[in-house]
Amino acid sequence: METKIEFNDRLLSLGLARVSEAAAIAAAKFIGSGDEKKADQAAVDAMRAQLNLLDINGVVVIGEGERDEAPMLYIGEKVGTGLGSGADIALDPLEGTTLTAKNMPDALSVIAMGPRGSMLHAPDVYMDKLAIGPSYPQDLVHLDMTPTERVRALAKAKNCAVKNITVCVLERPRHNELIGELRQAGARIKLITDGDVAGIIHCAEPEITGVDMLMGLGGAPEGVLAASALKCLGGQIQGRLVFRTNDEKKRAEKAGIKDLNQIYNLNDMVTEEVIFAASGVTNGSILKGTRIINNMLETETILMRSKTGSIRRLTCRQKVT
Ligand code: FBP
Repeated sequence: METKIEFNDRLLSLGLARVSEAAAIAAAKFIGSGDEKKADQAAVDAMRAQLNLLDINGVVVIGEGERDEAPMLYIGEKVGTGLGSGADIALDPLEGTTLTAKNMPDALSVIAMGPRGSMLHAPDVYMDKLAIGPSYPQDLVHLDMTPTERVRALAKAKNCAVKNITVCVLERPRHNELIGELRQAGARIKLITDGDVAGIIHCAEPEITGVDMLMGLGGAPEGVLAASALKCLGGQIQGRLVFRTNDEKKRAEKAGIKDLNQIYNLNDMVTEEVIFAASGVTNGSILKGTRIINNMLETETILMRSKTGSIRRLTCRQKVT
């Protein structure tokens, strides 16, 4: 009889840090180059090579796209040596391609891993997201509330005025109305040009980052990655898929989504304990970017396990190759 190999999050975690580290180093060669595609390709190649060294029977569930549109790290691609336990993998080798090409803050290389069947197969469509940090009652804020109701509820729970609530929003024309309403309600807005995974991670430590909430539409795959991070850090996230075309609905159905209007909370997106690693590509408020110090290449990685709540910050110096 075949014995099932348990997903050993503890043993796998350091390997995962190496994976995001390698992708960040590769992408960093293109910081400020203006070339988003090359930066992304370099990160993809490096991440895949490292991932394939891990003793896992892994499947990419959140990846670079569907098989016909992504030659590598496509959804459904098998990764790892095939020798270890089964694993679901959500990855974004370069979260913030434009940030990297323009040398702007908070470009990250990101990866999360859990046992098989632990992650929502989110199609590559938009997701309406709402995230807050830890220590609040479950569903204190909800996607069904208006933006004004959400900031008021959070201010009440924080025992502060709405003017002391900062909401992170992607700067997009589609968010003009949201931004207008939030400002009308008295909240502060932190606009980001890209990178809502980092935006959501910021919500987990409002005292340090100054960000209390994130609202608005971003990529659904990034939503699952951010949910994996919050599962480790604490905090809440809700997401509802947003479809602009029938083709997008078909993508969702193909990915196994039954209720197209469902609101997913954190535990719907990530159903079991996971590990999460992110490495800085450009300098940012979560992680330092890769840099050369004393002719050595230095990277910074955050490595987290939801089971234990452990959060490691790893600085690695290595020879420049
Ligand atoms: P890429 O790095 O893949 O370009 O994604 C960056 C990002 O800003 C995500 O963080 C965000 O979820 C998504 O793009 C938003 O999409 P859009 O640029 O279409 O508004």
